[in-house]
Amino acid sequence: MLRDRYDCELSTTSLAARDAYVTGCDLLLSANPGGELLFERAIAEDEAFLLGHAALARSLQGIGRPQDGKACLARAQHLVSRATDREKSQFSIVENLLDGRSTVALEEIYRHVQSWPRDAMALAPATGVFGLIGFSGKTGREQAQLEMLQPLATHYGNDWWFLGALAFSEIEQGLLDVGRAHVEMSLRGNSRNANAAHVSAHGYYESGDVSDGIRFLRDWLKAYSVGSPLHCHLHWHLALWALQNGNLDDAWSIYHASLRPGVCIGPQINRLTDSASFLFRAELAGEPSDDTLWREVSDLAAELFPDAGIAFVDIHAALAHAMAGNGDLLARLTEHPKGLTGDLVASASRAFSAFARQDWQGVLSELQPVLGEHERLGGSRAQRDIIEYTMACALMKSGREDETKRLLYSRRGRALVGGIPIAGVV
Ligand SMILES: [Fe+2]
Repeated sequence: MLRDRYDCELSTTSLAARDAYVTGCDLLLSANPGGELLFERAIAEDEAFLLGHAALARSLQGIGRPQDGKACLARAQHLVSRATDREKSQFSIVENLLDGRSTVALEEIYRHVQSWPRDAMALAPATGVFGLIGFSGKTGREQAQLEMLQPLATHYGNDWWFLGALAFSEIEQGLLDVGRAHVEMSLRGNSRNANAAHVSAHGYYESGDVSDGIRFLRDWLKAYSVGSPLHCHLHWHLALWALQNGNLDDAWSIYHASLRPGVCIGPQINRLTDSASFLFRAELAGEPSDDTLWREVSDLAAELFPDAGIAFVDIHAALAHAMAGNGDLLARLTEHPKGLTGDLVASASRAFSAFARQDWQGVLSELQPVLGEHERLGGSRAQRDIIEYTMACALMKSGREDETKRLLYSRRGRALVGGIPIAGVV
């Protein structure tokens, strides 16, 4: 039988189909564009190639076409009975993913890797801060991510995708040295692995290594086209560093060129969360609030995510609605939050509402229960800094400077506090 790059057997006898599939998988696993075209080619070469259909479905979901992905899976249903057990299991994982049965999909992945630990395409949806574990809403999910990946390391050796995924988990757990070493190995294996470039950015961020981070990312982005999966988010990282360095013109240039609604092309979740996050962090850094820009983001949230339910998305939508003065949409999140993390979403939403009213005591009391549990919201530590920074800003505005510094030291250490872009914190 033909095999993929991870030595997994494939039910196709077409070399052309296999080669297109493997190249498509590498594009998908490295967050580069064009995977769906390769998977379509694989299917054109061999219509009976089940995993070609599964990979195409995932790829379509990733570019905001989940309904097309579901249709693709439906067309391939008749092929399942002839597939191997591994292929059947992977196909089922993708079906559950696209149908929104996240808990079932994650349970299936845990079982799948017991039998086929090197099946990267099956494992990948469980990894990353937006993955099935990342968005599980559970306390301890960062540790759970690491505990899932570490035992699998022996099966992957120097594989660039796995090292990048492992490194992200390590860096998010504060294992900076080993995480940064692993991500460098990943980039040596595939210098165009955008996931690894992203993890590197987090390594620089968590280390407070701003100048080197900017140099690395600016150079790496030269060959990463607009519209690529991480183009928007990597520019968010650059914009944050520009704020941190006090280069406000640079920060706003990046916002208007790569993050602003109507300009940003990329995954829906990044289009909302990166724009809302930047605008708020610019304000925390002392920039004046711009009603027009906030309304754009609030409108985008209403358009892209009319139904609540993903906590990380919901808190950014609430932020945009609060800052734009869009009380009706905000009320849906403060009064009727959905999902396992609805309690935190409601509290954070009320806190942002209080912030917009400059009710600093309200911010402090509403955010207090979120502060110790924001891991459950999903997203990276860098993204969730918005919670601590909001708290710190409210403490500063309340004249409680010592408490502000204590809060920031607990997250970043005394040496880094001066580099945090919150107006008045020195
Ligand atoms: Fe990031």
